[in-house]
Amino acid sequence: MTAATAGLVKSNESKIASIQVHIDQAIENLLASLPSPGQLSAEERRGIIARYTAVLEGNFIYWMTGAYISVGSDEARAKIMDNLREEVRDCHPGMMRRFAIAAHAIPTDADAQAVYRNLMNVRLFIGRLSAVPTVVTMAFFEGFIQRFMPYLAELARRQGSAEMEYTDVHGVCDVTHTQELFRALDAEMALVRPMPEEEMFEGVELLRTLIENIVVNN
Ligand SMILES: [Fe+2]
Repeated sequence: MTAATAGLVKSNESKIASIQVHIDQAIENLLASLPSPGQLSAEERRGIIARYTAVLEGNFIYWMTGAYISVGSDEARAKIMDNLREEVRDCHPGMMRRFAIAAHAIPTDADAQAVYRNLMNVRLFIGRLSAVPTVVTMAFFEGFIQRFMPYLAELARRQGSAEMEYTDVHGVCDVTHTQELFRALDAEMALVRPMPEEEMFEGVELLRTLIENIVVNN
């Protein structure tokens, strides 16, 4: 390795580290903003589970597929395909639906309407098939989901549910998985020109707004 390539590797490593810090901070901020389950009414609890289901059940695999189509490196493709395989093989949309049914929180027309605009914004962003911002967004999403599961499970418990397969499966902290995801991001970043922060985190911002919309119906 020449001094020049060593410098390049190092600068990419520090770039990845700073993206990870940005994502972790965005997740922490969202978690800190969650209302305490004990202060929510039954209808508020139902609404959060229903809007979350309205977004996740029909979109997670679609967005992950968008990420698969957008990436150009073998590392990223392999990582995303592992994820897609698990989603389909273990029928995660079905798991999500069972979770909502058991918590008496099947999404209604009004729940779907409540998230319509912010959901559409994320859909359109994914549709642009821009590899790096999409992988960054999915890393944020997966990181958030994993940390959100104890909260979602608590809401369901308070709704009288004991069906926790969805939150159990998605709440596992998988360090290897996260590392692989950031290695995939590293491989993708090597293929594209450097981009401004605004472009890099556009999807994270849109998704953060959607999650806030799920938690607080406004
Ligand atoms: Fe899943």
